[in-house]
Amino acid sequence: MHAMTKEFLETAFAGESQAHMRYLIFADKAEKDGQPNLARLFRAIAYAEQVHATNHFRELGNIQGATENLQACIDGENFEVDEMYPVYQNAAEFQQEKGAVRSAHFALEAEKIHAVMYADAQEKTQGGGDIDIDIGIVSICPICGYTVEGEVPKFCPVCGAKGETFKGF
Ligand code: FE2
Ligand code: FE2
Ligand code: FE2
Repeated sequence: MHAMTKEFLETAFAGESQAHMRYLIFADKAEKDGQPNLARLFRAIAYAEQVHATNHFRELGNIQGATENLQACIDGENFEVDEMYPVYQNAAEFQQEKGAVRSAHFALEAEKIHAVMYADAQEKTQGGGDIDIDIGIVSICPICGYTVEGEVPKFCPVCGAKGETFKGF
């Protein structure tokens, strides 16, 4: 692919990805504000942006088998853990931006777990099979994104939220 086309596709992928996420966040807000139909519109259009992002991503050759896809995930999570969030958190501390320190800390703690879970999944899907069904549900803290497999703790070890508020997948 020509370098310029590739660069444009990458930019478009980033833009569509952000639009997708923004619309989902706005949908949650509309839902909370008692506007379920507006929430529905946000979610529908968020899905359209996901379709666009998927098309750009595919054309870039970034959709591969589980081993390669998981490697991309591991590399991304490790980058966030080893470089990105520690630096962002430090910068936010330096500038006394409490909210940013908190959101960077929450992300950093969860990404550590994601990197490990993805590496484990990569090992277990080596032969092309799926990961174990008895792995149990994966639960996510709605406040900080803390991620846990199987039994949910009484309180989130990162932010202290109640385990009963965790969202299961
Ligand atoms: Fe779009
Ligand atoms: Fe992550
Ligand atoms: Fe949490």
